[in-house]
Amino acid sequence: MHAYLLESNAPLSQDTLAAEGILYWQLPKDEAAYAAPLQAIRDARGYVEMDQIHLGDDTPELEAKLDKFFAEHLHTDEEIRFVVGGAGIFDLRDKDDRWMRVHVEAGDLIIVPANKYHRFTLDEQKTITCKRLFQDTSGWTPVPR
Ligand code: LAC
Ligand code: NI
Repeated sequence: MHAYLLESNAPLSQDTLAAEGILYWQLPKDEAAYAAPLQAIRDARGYVEMDQIHLGDDTPELEAKLDKFFAEHLHTDEEIRFVVGGAGIFDLRDKDDRWMRVHVEAGDLIIVPANKYHRFTLDEQKTITCKRLFQDTSGWTPVPR
C-alpha cells in the first residue's frame, strides 16, 4: 500500500488514513498464509459474505466498467476489498474534500468507510483480482456524487 495526497504527492500515513476512517491491513500474498488472518478479520467484523472479482484484458466492456468505477460515488455500507493479484487505485475524499490516493496490491486489505466519496481505477498493470467482503449485500449500491 502506498498513499499520498493527489494534489501534492505528500505521503499519507496509515494513522492519517485511520483518522479519515479508512482501515488497512497488510496480509500475506500467499493463500495458505493469508487464510487464517483473513478469517479472523471476517469473524471480528461480521463479514459473512465474500466473493471474488477480476478486471483485466479478458473483461468484457472493461473500459465502460472502469468509467463507472472512476465516477465519484459512495455507498451506505463499507466497501471492503482484499487484493489477491494485480493492483488498484482508490481515490478517497479527505475531510477537506481533497483526493487521497491509495495504491493497493496483492496482500492489501482496505476498508472504505460507509458514506465516504471515492472512485477506483487500475494502474499500468491494467489488472486486479480481489475478494469483496460484505456484512450483507442488500443495499450495496453506488450513490453518485
Ligand atoms: C466499487 C468500487 C470500484 O464501488 O469503488 O465497486
Ligand atoms: Ni465504490
